[in-house]
Amino acid sequence: MNRPRPRPRPQPRRPRPTPAALVRAAPGPAFEITLDGRALSALPGQSIAAALWAAGVLSWRTTRRGGRARGAFCGIGSCFDCLATVNGTPNQRACLVPARPGDAITTQEGHGRADLTV
Ligand code: FES
Repeated sequence: MNRPRPRPRPQPRRPRPTPAALVRAAPGPAFEITLDGRALSALPGQSIAAALWAAGVLSWRTTRRGGRARGAFCGIGSCFDCLATVNGTPNQRACLVPARPGDAITTQEGHGRADLTV
């Protein structure tokens, strides 16, 4: 007579590895940047766009026509959707600019040259 096979025990779930753990990255300590005065944390080696994404910020610019929200799209410096004002300099591609301690990022409206309008 066949005995019923024992059911496999459910295995305890292992925590999902983070992207940093998958590549065995050991970034240095986090530092602070600001977006429109709001303090955010960034890691050494992160681009500004990556730091904003990590903080849950997905858009930080509006288009010239229509004022539609934009953030990082291509992530490689080709689309210019991620433009931001960094430390007072407008039109910086956030996906290419590395985050540095104390960086002040401000959202950019239109072409980022509101100071030049007459
Ligand atoms: S996301 Fe395309 S240029 Fe930055």
